Amino acid sequence: MNVLVAGGAGYIGSATVEKLVDAGHNVVVVDNLSRGHAAAVSKSARFEVGDISDRAFMDGVLSSAKFDVVMHFCAFSLVGESVTDPMKYYENNVSGGMALVKAMLAHGVKRLIFSSTAAIFGEPAVVPIPETAPKQPTNPYGRSKAAFEQFLQDCDTAYGLKSICLRYFNAAGATKKVGECHNPETHLIPIVLETALGRRKEVQIFGRSYLTQDGTGIRDYIHVSDLAQAHILAAEYLVDSNEGDQFNLGNGHGYSVLEVLEAAEAVTGKKIARKFAPRRAGDPAILVASSDKIREKLEWEPEYPELEDIIQSAWDWMQKNPDGYNKPPAKAKSRKK
Ligand SMILES: NC(=O)c1ccc[n+]([C@@H]2O[C@H](COP(=O)([O-])OP(=O)(O)OC[C@H]3O[C@@H](n4cnc5c(N)ncnc54)[C@H](O)[C@@H]3O)[C@@H](O)[C@H]2O)c1
Repeated sequence: MNVLVAGGAGYIGSATVEKLVDAGHNVVVVDNLSRGHAAAVSKSARFEVGDISDRAFMDGVLSSAKFDVVMHFCAFSLVGESVTDPMKYYENNVSGGMALVKAMLAHGVKRLIFSSTAAIFGEPAVVPIPETAPKQPTNPYGRSKAAFEQFLQDCDTAYGLKSICLRYFNAAGATKKVGECHNPETHLIPIVLETALGRRKEVQIFGRSYLTQDGTGIRDYIHVSDLAQAHILAAEYLVDSNEGDQFNLGNGHGYSVLEVLEAAEAVTGKKIARKFAPRRAGDPAILVASSDKIREKLEWEPEYPELEDIIQSAWDWMQKNPDGYNKPPAKAKSRKK
């Protein structure tokens, strides 16, 4: 396949690019490096630095090859920031995505894989969460993603744009080459491991009186490499069938914050300091995906379902790359293959 990966210098995008090129696909990456890292992009991919909202830039990219499918990872995804600056979130996550789709349609590219999120569901009534659960996002980030899913459905009806929305739960872990390096980091596993490395004093645990076995929140952690594989299966399905769909994407198994800490202590051999803090508004007690649909329809099966394996991969990467990608992203340039 010829695949255009928008946001391919980010955490999940770069892991997907790595898997795509390893499987022999031709990959072009676009990323404005607002949150990503040029060093994360596989050297076997062509890399163009630019913004998906920049039509002249996107015209150049889209006319450079005949793309079978576009994977769209670009977004801002900090829940707290989305509350204080919703303009920024709707602008990038909705308007930015619309600009991408408009450019795609102008170049006759009509297949898209979209990075959606469990946040579109808000506080779930049923756990594990099926695809049919009501969409009741509790913050602007989740609402921007739900709005874009709706937009994609309307584009199918009006323009025949076929899309697959993959609603990730908590991406975690690392491949041999790429790992998680957000700034600021808000995800539990890298925070726990940074604490183990001595980079943070302690892990803050938000809430200890949830109705869960140990009182802390439960989340579904999915290895980034398994997420990447789901993108390849989704793209192949879309190209073969030309049918759009939506899939929830997690391990289908939840772990509490304390279980993550315990597993991380076992992996690192270090005691990890923690401090309890009040619950955060809008944080559900349990978020676990039903992954039945993607397992059945796309025959996706996680290769790394065990929490300790996920944490081990993140720990290996972090120890090899203690400064992350350690390069000022703004200085990076487009790179030809
Ligand atoms: N990480 C998770 O656990 C998780 C969970 C659910 C959903 N998601 C979604 O998955 C996607 C990828 O997440 P991630 O953790 O890899 O994020 P990330 O920030 O590491 O990657 C996003 C990439 O998109 C780029 N980008 C953003 N806006 C752009 C624009 N307008 N033009 C060009 N490039 C742009 C950034 O520079 C970055 O490299 C996001 O859409 C996110 O909302 C992530």
